[in-house]
Amino acid sequence: MTIFSGVKLGELALANRIVMAPMTRSRAAADAVPTAMMVDYYSQRASAGLIISEGIAPSADGLGYCRTPGLYNDVQVAAWSRVTAGVHAAGGRIVAQLMHVGRVASHFNKPAGSQTIAPSAIRARGEIYTDQAGMAPFDEPRALATDEIAGVVEDYRLATANAIAAGFNGVELHCTSGYLPAQFLSTGSNLRDDRYGGSVANRCRFALEALAAMASVAGPGRVGMRICPDNPFNDLSDDNPQETFEHLLGLAAALGLAYLHVIRMPAGRVDNIALGQRYFGDRLIVNESYGFEEASRVVASGAAAAVSFGRLFIANPDLVARFRTGAPLAKFDPHTLYAGGESGYSDYPVL
Ligand SMILES: Cc1cc2nc3c(=O)[nH]c(=O)nc-3n(C[C@H](O)[C@H](O)[C@H](O)COP(=O)(O)O)c2cc1C
Repeated sequence: MTIFSGVKLGELALANRIVMAPMTRSRAAADAVPTAMMVDYYSQRASAGLIISEGIAPSADGLGYCRTPGLYNDVQVAAWSRVTAGVHAAGGRIVAQLMHVGRVASHFNKPAGSQTIAPSAIRARGEIYTDQAGMAPFDEPRALATDEIAGVVEDYRLATANAIAAGFNGVELHCTSGYLPAQFLSTGSNLRDDRYGGSVANRCRFALEALAAMASVAGPGRVGMRICPDNPFNDLSDDNPQETFEHLLGLAAALGLAYLHVIRMPAGRVDNIALGQRYFGDRLIVNESYGFEEASRVVASGAAAAVSFGRLFIANPDLVARFRTGAPLAKFDPHTLYAGGESGYSDYPVL
């Protein structure tokens, strides 16, 4: 078995174990609709065993960064259909990463009428880029009332139905990096005293309900989850991430998900990869700073089913072919990562 061998993760059949990691690239239109250049960008990278899309908002409230896409209306579904058709025509598979940013948002980046919501009314420390006002402080979020939470879970279910209607092969819950599910999990951002806060079981409830809602329409074999225990990104902190994630993963594994996608954090308090292996054994995708050699070793040893690559896919649309032939890897231009436009996005050449 090598990194080039196929593998089945739940219902997802991967032609190889080289996965494209989710990357926000800020190329959507202002109304959170995918653009034609996104069809090109994803189609060019279809030789990956699986593409995980950039974070996609399941609702207008879930938007927070500039020019990011959604999956909550018919115009967005039609536009995503062109992306998935392009990837499929090129022989690839693509899942939609559902990313509700919660409090990690600026109202400048959100449509009128949408809100910045969170488990508790605690503003994240830090700033976020906006086209209108440059760097802006994160919004002060409004705490969700207990009886509103079912509606947010329902947004994940509807977005999953939209993803399947748009031709995505599955969906991934973004459950790290300080966004809404992680805000519920963590003691620093969740001070609730209802059934969604306090005990570890209560803090895990939202993420598990979102996963169950996603699985109810896609089937569990088409649902994955991305985690990075003890990741402090976006002002996140948890008293005991080991305990939190042991609980979460025990119940998530019981749902029969397609895969767990783990970002390693050598400086953290948790051995994220070992934790993922315990609960998701042969259904693990690992990530963060892997190169070809290390990724090949990890897959050959059976420690992970697949490895995802983010930055390497930016300037190397044919990364799989370059790995296969040992060809040199191109470097990306950091200035065009979120710049908008085709330059530094869909114009990186293949060899
Ligand atoms: C430009 C950029 C945008 C990213 N956006 C997302 C995102 O939308 N969702 C997500 O889960 N991770 C996101 N990430 C993190 C990557 O998926 C990945 O974890 C990270 O780049 C480390 O992997 P690498 O060392 O292979 O690049 C982003 C990373 C980059 C560089």
